[in-house]
Amino acid sequence: MKSMKKEVLFSKEVISGRIRSLADEISRDYAGGELIVIGVLKGAFIFMADLIRSLQIPCMVDFAQLASYGSGSVSSGNVAIKKDIGLPIAGKDVLIVEDIVDTGLTLSFLVKTLKERSPRSLKVCVFLDKKMRRKVPFTADYTGFTIDDGFVVGYGLDFNEQARFLPDVYVIKE
Ligand code: IMP
Repeated sequence: MKSMKKEVLFSKEVISGRIRSLADEISRDYAGGELIVIGVLKGAFIFMADLIRSLQIPCMVDFAQLASYGSGSVSSGNVAIKKDIGLPIAGKDVLIVEDIVDTGLTLSFLVKTLKERSPRSLKVCVFLDKKMRRKVPFTADYTGFTIDDGFVVGYGLDFNEQARFLPDVYVIKE
């Protein structure tokens, strides 16, 4: 990682401004209600922590972890639940929070799986969206930033488990 060239794509100041607007939008949409926010481990933990602290409505939190079997950083079609949520979601308003949507395979699988548990509503908030790389159709309800192709790290996102701790988002060069 140290030897890897990288450039800041979104600074922590830009990120926190965007998160405040996202949280305002979500709070307006669910005004008067209560949310179950489900973070997808590990990448979403920092985004989720910042997002929920900017919400103006109460929420409960839970986490899911998915396993994607295939080659390294690119998801194959084979997604499975590695760690399930613990909260019952039937009849509840549920918001999935994810770090990044790329091919769309991971989130399509999670949405399908959680819908089977009959939540009252189910929406998805992604920090980053690589819209051009979809293998399956997937549209998030709330998006932090849309980005081009390229591998990004920091603010929870990793490269081989490194760089999650960085406060800014970087794009890896070459
Ligand atoms: P999808 O199923 O292809 O949409 O995969 C999304 C998952 O791939 C994310 O949760 C990340 O773990 C990983 N991923 C995709 N692109 C990047 C990236 O640029 N940086 C870090 N992780 C990424």
